[in-house]
Amino acid sequence: MKGKMICLEGGEGAGKSTALKVVTGWLEARGRRSLVTREPGGTPFAEKIRKLLLDPQTGEIDPVTELLLMFAARRENVVDVIEPALAEGIDVICDRFTDASYAYQGGGRELGPEPVGVLAGLVHPDLQPDLVLVLDVPVDVGLERIKTRRGGPDRFEGSRMAFLERVRQAYLERARAHPDRYAVIDATLTIKEVAAAIRQSLEERLA
Ligand code: TYD
Repeated sequence: MKGKMICLEGGEGAGKSTALKVVTGWLEARGRRSLVTREPGGTPFAEKIRKLLLDPQTGEIDPVTELLLMFAARRENVVDVIEPALAEGIDVICDRFTDASYAYQGGGRELGPEPVGVLAGLVHPDLQPDLVLVLDVPVDVGLERIKTRRGGPDRFEGSRMAFLERVRQAYLERARAHPDRYAVIDATLTIKEVAAAIRQSLEERLA
């Protein structure tokens, strides 16, 4: 049997790392084999692309160039990591995937959904997540949370409020359009409540 693909998405400071632990814990408790990967990144070469993309010193790049680099990294991760694992029956947890391109490049950078869909068709024509968990938090709350992080903001975290608001709305729109594969989690709740909501979605959609 093929493994399941679970993606974690959300804006800045939505608490993806906590969610990741909840998902891995849930799968482990059921004796399922799983692996965690992230995007952009997941393979040595894709991690190099990630470095370029997140480095504040990269400065502004053309939004289409940014989108192409996201998908270049994604192709490496899909071919080398995600598809082989799924084929072996291993569940894959992806810390961001194509929905992040719909949200950040389609919404945030205002490219719209079409170019993202075209590239998704080229890069992973036969692959779509079984469940996308969208951790939703108002932009100002998320920004307040990441203020205390070490190392200063990456190229995306330094973005303006309006950009991040478009990112949030694009995620919510994706979730509304595909309610069967998406679960929007209210990430303003306590960690305990967020964890419970995530487990409930996993029970409903994957068990
Ligand atoms: P991530 O490592 O999840 O950062 P954080 O946990 O701090 O949010 O993601 C890195 C950044 O890359 C994030 O700001 C969103 C951005 N990104 C895109 O713009 N498009 C994409 O397709 C992906 C996968 C990520």
